[in-house]
Amino acid sequence: MVDKKNDMKIKIIKNGPYIVTGSIPLLQQIIVTDAEGHTKDLVDEKEFPLQETYSLCRCGESKNKPFCDGTHTEIGFNGTETTSRKPYIEKAEIFEGEELRLTDAHEFCDHSRFCLRSGGIRNLIKSKRPMSQQMAIEQAMICPSGRLVLWNKETGEPYEQDFEPSIVLIHDEQKKCQGPIWVRGGIPIESADGTIYETRNRVTLCRCGKSENKPYCDGSHWMSAEQKLKFREKWGLDEKDE
Ligand code: FES
Repeated sequence: MVDKKNDMKIKIIKNGPYIVTGSIPLLQQIIVTDAEGHTKDLVDEKEFPLQETYSLCRCGESKNKPFCDGTHTEIGFNGTETTSRKPYIEKAEIFEGEELRLTDAHEFCDHSRFCLRSGGIRNLIKSKRPMSQQMAIEQAMICPSGRLVLWNKETGEPYEQDFEPSIVLIHDEQKKCQGPIWVRGGIPIESADGTIYETRNRVTLCRCGKSENKPYCDGSHWMSAEQKLKFREKWGLDEKDE
């Protein structure tokens, strides 16, 4: 029997699109907010007909989004992959709670803002209240970019949703823009140079063409240059790891 999961892959084309193979489901989801205006969840907006192979726009300028229509060649898109190739865990800062450990690799942040409710995840993990701990777990598991991972200190296991391999186009209604491409369920991503990035349960890829951490999203789809600068200063991201 053919294992379809083995055929699944996202191949990055140099200065071009993402070529998706292996009949990976493609959906669109919208970010919803709570009464205080904090982002809370993602809900289905649309499911695209299943295709064996398709190419997703990476430059942000296709007239046939989310699919590539060749515009990247007309605009001279520079899609150079600038992220460091270190594994997630080597990039991450560690924050300790009594029962929970948070690992946080800032450079992956797609700015979906799920970690800010109820005082924020870093405070929530310090609380002994089961409700706070449960909220921290939910916030980590929904973090699309995988920037945040929460670990059970007793078992050493991470809290992760059991995703079927799938690709979600995030629609950020609060920021009035399209968000990143959410890759779920451990789909391999191959660089234009042929190497495979660390395969993870959740990552977000840039689809506006502006990220400074390509191929990953860095929030540039809605953050101004000034906001990005402040963010980079806050987290000490001006020096890029090699
Ligand atoms: S990557 Fe081809 S049109 Fe955007």
